[in-house]
Amino acid sequence: MKDVFIAAKDLTYVYRRSNTGGYKALSGINLTVKTGEFLAIIGSNGSGKSTLARHFNGLLKPSSGSVTVAGMDTASVENTWEIRRLVGMVFQNPDNQIVSSLVEEDAAFGAENLGLPPEEVKKRVAETLRLVGLTPYARHAPHLLSGGQKQKLAIAGVLAMCPTCLVLDEPTSMLDPAGRMELMETLIHLNRDMLVTVVLVTHFMEEAVLADRVVVLSDGEIALSGPPVEIFTEVELLEELGLQLPTALKIAHGLRQRGFSLPLDILTINDLLAYCKNVLVG
Ligand SMILES: Nc1ncnc2c1ncn2[C@@H]1O[C@H](COP(=O)(O)OP(=O)(O)O)[C@@H](O)[C@H]1O
Ligand SMILES: [Mg+2]
Repeated sequence: MKDVFIAAKDLTYVYRRSNTGGYKALSGINLTVKTGEFLAIIGSNGSGKSTLARHFNGLLKPSSGSVTVAGMDTASVENTWEIRRLVGMVFQNPDNQIVSSLVEEDAAFGAENLGLPPEEVKKRVAETLRLVGLTPYARHAPHLLSGGQKQKLAIAGVLAMCPTCLVLDEPTSMLDPAGRMELMETLIHLNRDMLVTVVLVTHFMEEAVLADRVVVLSDGEIALSGPPVEIFTEVELLEELGLQLPTALKIAHGLRQRGFSLPLDILTINDLLAYCKNVLVG
């Protein structure tokens, strides 16, 4: 059993609105993220995904209930610094995350702010740029990178702070399909090979199927939670929650409805192709 890294207990969050009182964006959330896990959070617009993600590094504090990171309560200010270092955030818009005019300086920003010696920062930046595949661009201007490369740069900057966990809030939503695919490959590599815990908020189901576990939010509550094979076979329920199924799952579901007995672990186009090939050849 892996260690619990983030734990939300009875987490409720109310946005204060001066004219209408409060708006309850999260209610009674109980959720743990384990060290080394790749967790996807999905849900329709306004279901509370960003609000939840912002609790994971203390950007937002619970209105009631609690969130702990590595056992530290996010509500205590004395934990804020360490929690921000352990949990790196990457946001939707890659352009808003650029702070320097040179890729390697941009990636160094967070690590420098930790007060590390310059040689150590340099070493870490070289390593993290390599990890995300941006070494050839170290001396380039960040604004000339593609959207996907900018997101990788944001990730490199966070990784240089040696976090345990990356929380990414729809990092691929402004990328083209090729950029999305590449970013997903980077995240999977970081999770599998570098043992970084990943929490990915996404509205692309094709990305969520690649996670170890999927949490579905609806109106600020957890509607479903489980491994992708369990979640993505709840076809009717997902559609009721306003979520678009990935094409491979739609095809598999359609074939099952027409009497074909397809295995339940067909989640991607590649799974589907492998199955078809087996049936045709085998
Ligand atoms: N700063 C804010 N002030 C008031 N209400 C907000 C604020 N941010 C989000 N909300 C509301 O909280 C709900 C959840 O928002 P959010 O967490 O951004 O959802 P998601 O990321 O799933 O689209 C929405 O109804 C949204 O309108
Ligand atoms: Mg959001």
